[in-house]
Amino acid sequence: MMNKLIEWIDARIPMTATYNKHVGEYPAPKNFNFWYFFGSLAMLVLVNQLLTGIWLTMNYVPTAEGAFASIEYIMRDVEYGWLLRYMHSTGASAFFVVVYLHMFRGLMYGSYQKPRELLWLFGMLIFLVLMAEAFMGYLLPWGQMSYWGAQVIISLFGAIPVIGDDLTLWIRGDYVVSGATLNRFFALHVIALPLVLVVLVFLHIVALHEVGSNNPDGIDIKKNKDENGWPKDAIPFHPYYTVKDILGVAGFLILFCYVIFFMPEGGGYFLEKPNFEAANPMKTPEHIAPVWYFTSYYAILRAVPDKLLGVIAMGAAIVVLFLLPWIDRCKVRSIRYRSTLHKLNLAQFTICFIILGVLGALPSTPALTVLAQVTSIGYFGFFVALWFYSKNEKTKPLPERVTG
Ligand code: HEM
Repeated sequence: MMNKLIEWIDARIPMTATYNKHVGEYPAPKNFNFWYFFGSLAMLVLVNQLLTGIWLTMNYVPTAEGAFASIEYIMRDVEYGWLLRYMHSTGASAFFVVVYLHMFRGLMYGSYQKPRELLWLFGMLIFLVLMAEAFMGYLLPWGQMSYWGAQVIISLFGAIPVIGDDLTLWIRGDYVVSGATLNRFFALHVIALPLVLVVLVFLHIVALHEVGSNNPDGIDIKKNKDENGWPKDAIPFHPYYTVKDILGVAGFLILFCYVIFFMPEGGGYFLEKPNFEAANPMKTPEHIAPVWYFTSYYAILRAVPDKLLGVIAMGAAIVVLFLLPWIDRCKVRSIRYRSTLHKLNLAQFTICFIILGVLGALPSTPALTVLAQVTSIGYFGFFVALWFYSKNEKTKPLPERVTG
């Protein structure tokens, strides 16, 4: 009966063939490690956000008058509303934790290098849309930080010469952040950007499966095939990695549930304290800081004394990541076989990024501004140095077959 149904479907759409190509017979390198958990975890978090988001929308009121109270209502009166909300708010932070680790893996193993440039570009577009999605979502609870955070970030566009003022007006739909802004952010957050995200993730996977996965050794497993044309260093994605990914999912869910049930505010980093007070356009909070996942870029913005140059620096910090496949001219992908200079460069970049993240959450002082300037130079210095040394980098010999 089941076989008949499958045959019937297969005669009409290539269901079994697609499953085999992308899951059952997808040749995945056999040396995937811990760092390869984060792609599947990002998908899990995406599904979590979509589902909890749909259910939150059922009781959320997207108006300046009703938004804050509707969140209170969800938290107190809707059955399991508190759980839906905490899954969604914790999910937002989890998304960035997972995506940052996923990107770092790409940096370590040179997964952006030829032939995976387009895969990387789709990843970067996902990152950009994800930032917009999170930013707009944060306005919806209509708390003090939602309101003033949006006010500060939208006003940055005002620094753009000539069109700046008109542009901020166009984005807000009003002279200040208001119900009109909330309405449009709601529409974008709930339908437009999630659609774009899902399409981009689909294209990301298509691009990955067209060229095949990289691996921690960064060598091409397709060069060594057996008599059936199967790469000797590959194993079928299912059951090997479906089972292995379950381990990653279990580990992730333990941490995720811990936060949801025991520290849903994430120490004031996942849900910031001023956001428990309704938005008040007459009262500016003492210290306005974006949510933790934006703070590195916010610190770069503040490190530059001039507003326009600061906005340009912040934009450049993202744009330069898009260009990475062309900045890195080394023929060897994985950090395992690259020079000590490259290892040190990646280490200093990571440290600078983390320090910037801490600084962006703190009120600025003259000493901290100097530190932000030094670490911003470290951030951009990574790419500049990489471009210079990568062409003639002294690398270690690559193994013929993947190692452990
Ligand atoms: C919603 C967000 C994302 C999802 C759901 C996602 C999903 C995935 C999945 C399932 C894989 C294959 C499994 C793995 O290698 O871990 C993958 C690979 C990859 N992703 Fe993403 N990704 C996301 C965001 C990003 C971002 C922001 C970047 C970087 C800009 C990126 C770059 C890559 C690269 C380079 C690979 C290939 C890695 C390799 O083969 O070594 N992804 N992604």
